Amino acid sequence: MLNADSPTRYTLFMSTAPQKTFYLETFGCQMNVHDSEKVIGTLVHEGYSQVQTVEQADLILYNTCSIRDKAEQKVFHRLADYKKLLAQGKKFGVLGCVAQQEGDKIFERAPHVSLVCGSASYRDLPQMLVQIEAGKRATGLDDRETDECFETEFTARTNPHRGYITIIEGCDKFCAYCVVPFTRGKERSRTSESVLAEAQQMVDFGYTEIQLLGQNVNSYKDPAGKKSFAELLAAVGEIPGIKRVRFTTSHPRDFGRDIVEAIDSVPTLCDHVHLPVQSGSTRVLDAMQRTYTRDEYLEKIALIRSARRSISVTSDIIVGFPGETEEDVAETLSLLEAAQYDGVFAFQYSPRPNTASLQMGDTISVEAKGRRLAVVQDRQREIQIARNNELVGQTFEVLVDGASRRPASPAGGPGQWAGRTSSNRILNLSSPHAGLLGQYIQVRVTRASPNSLIGEHVN
Ligand code: SAH
Ligand code: SF4
Ligand code: F3S
Repeated sequence: MLNADSPTRYTLFMSTAPQKTFYLETFGCQMNVHDSEKVIGTLVHEGYSQVQTVEQADLILYNTCSIRDKAEQKVFHRLADYKKLLAQGKKFGVLGCVAQQEGDKIFERAPHVSLVCGSASYRDLPQMLVQIEAGKRATGLDDRETDECFETEFTARTNPHRGYITIIEGCDKFCAYCVVPFTRGKERSRTSESVLAEAQQMVDFGYTEIQLLGQNVNSYKDPAGKKSFAELLAAVGEIPGIKRVRFTTSHPRDFGRDIVEAIDSVPTLCDHVHLPVQSGSTRVLDAMQRTYTRDEYLEKIALIRSARRSISVTSDIIVGFPGETEEDVAETLSLLEAAQYDGVFAFQYSPRPNTASLQMGDTISVEAKGRRLAVVQDRQREIQIARNNELVGQTFEVLVDGASRRPASPAGGPGQWAGRTSSNRILNLSSPHAGLLGQYIQVRVTRASPNSLIGEHVN
């Protein structure tokens, strides 16, 4: 999952009046990162300006994640750490998935909070700001009622290289372990027209890479009935000026041949699909209510592998789901071999409020979960070492998006850059040239490690 760590660009929205200030920290997935961009845009439009520390802020906001217990606890730790600042007249707000899940209970647990707002209610933020400025409490908890998406013309684009566009919000899948259908409301898609208009606007701003977002991006249904997901993907990729289009996350059930065909026929669509499997055991998949079997999943992988170009595939895995046996874990390990992923995010099962699997108990011990996680990660690491080693000597186009985190020489120094390939691999590279940020360059891979590649600029 990505975090926005680049400086916020919101100069377009600055007003000249003396300003109230806010600090916003974001946890969780890309959807949350992008929601924060929209929240920042909305607040700036309401006369606030963003500051980089809690101490400088009048209003302190946390955009929260509830996917696992650890993620949820983070916000309560932050609120406890900064409680003393209430005496200085600062206000606190909790946004996002923990806000939606816990609702008014947050006021009991952290009485210094005055705003609690879930993602389906962000369009009401301006009124809520007025309320909290008047010293009242405000809540926005639409739950699963809303049919609308949060569309705002005020979006701060915090990642200078990758423009996010939400095309579908919420989730109706109700996997047994997952809070998202409860925290993000029901599935609702934007019209293809409005998505294409936003993509065009991003190109006009100078973006060349766009990422289409949704918890189930490929369950997209155009409310105007004009375009399927694959058609929308192709149409975004065909906008003049676009060089790369990504999309995440795809649900295996709704992943069809038309998506692979779109990737094959539109060169700007990236060579990468994130297709979370969760488990390699059909029995566990059934208990998880994932709606596909191991074999059906592997058929989707075969579909992707049959593409004319090589498409990288990544996945998510949960270990320690209630009732998971050692045989089930062995099935997951053999699926790793069969799928040959280029990256895997593996997690220990965490029981969550409201979910179906809460009733099944948390039957796998912490030790067993830890052991299973390590086994899965070790196996996947071996696979990635082998796969990445095969890339040594090949040349890839890279979008340079930062200075290298791992310099090729111990002293680092100028000429060390980091970027991403179309397949979303991180490539740390050396170059005699300066000013490469935001450029597309050709890079020859000289060395490989499990999670990244090292190379040199060849043009
Ligand atoms: N919509 C995406 C997943 C979103 S959540 C999909 O359907 O694939 C991101 C990942 O968090 C999931 O893929 C899953 O692997 C993990 N996850 C979700 N709920 C979890 C839980 N209760 N415990 C542990 N991991 C969980
Ligand atoms: Fe959660 Fe399943 Fe929906 Fe993904 S598809 S967000 S895992 S309920
Ligand atoms: Fe977390 Fe909510 Fe995203 S629970 S993973 S922030 S949808």
